[in-house]
Amino acid sequence: MERTVYLNGEYVAESKAHISIFDRGFLFADAVYEVTAVLNGKLIDNAGHLARLERSCKELGLKLPVTGEELTGIQKALIEKNNLVEGGIYLQLTRGDEGDRDFSYSEDIKPTLVLFTQSRSLIDSPKKDTGIRVISIDDIRWRRRDIKTTQLLPACLAKHMAHAANADDVWLIENGLVTEGGSSNAYIVTDDNTIVTRPLSNDILHGITRASLMKLADDFDFKIEERHFTIEEAYAAKEAFISSATTFVWPVVAIDDKPIGNGKPGEVALKLREVYINTALEMAE
Ligand code: PDD
Repeated sequence: MERTVYLNGEYVAESKAHISIFDRGFLFADAVYEVTAVLNGKLIDNAGHLARLERSCKELGLKLPVTGEELTGIQKALIEKNNLVEGGIYLQLTRGDEGDRDFSYSEDIKPTLVLFTQSRSLIDSPKKDTGIRVISIDDIRWRRRDIKTTQLLPACLAKHMAHAANADDVWLIENGLVTEGGSSNAYIVTDDNTIVTRPLSNDILHGITRASLMKLADDFDFKIEERHFTIEEAYAAKEAFISSATTFVWPVVAIDDKPIGNGKPGEVALKLREVYINTALEMAE
């Protein structure tokens, strides 16, 4: 069944939604995006996603053509039009199209705004039971990873490499230290049950799920430490896990073929996942 998608002010069938070949999102990845999870037909952590979108736009001088309130209205309309119960809403804003390929752009260029739904099972994902296997690879991305741009080729290549190595995803390494996952934030749990994750900076995306987990960890008396950690420390950790809007929390059971802890999903990860989902359902809009 065809989805109804949103393109520049209109709701259209996906096969009727067309963008110019000169769109800067297509030619230069001159674009930002957000993914908001949907549970029971409601938006999860959406205020955080829209706030980060605004920040990404500000950093790149991109102009959002609609207000946050209007965006939420579009997201809700898409959920309804597509009968979406569980999955996500993808939102992308590009700098737009000036009718040719040119590195430079004018200030009054009209942006392109696209949103579409993706139906998928988030709560009953089999990965929560099996955990995921990751391989570590060099983080070759640019130095403004805090901006959520669509320059995702390094992540696509890395995930492809992981699948070829019989793994599910990657953890990215810079100067011997873990930055984040292929499309997630990365955590380890030490022997005294402290959750460790890299501090916020331009080196990583400021995950919205990460921010919620940090708050929940505090509320539920988990010990949490924001500091750098090496891949060797991760190999020896009691547990490891990732977080994102598309996974919530998934345990990591092996890194570079080395089992983490007893090689099974860890208790802290599973507890955080449960607490996150319960709270998210309560606060969903
Ligand atoms: N990715 N780090 C990176 C590099 C990411 O791409 C993502 C999310 C995260 C987690 O952020 P959040 O908790 O706000 O989803 C961290 C999305 C899900 C994606 O690209 O599909």
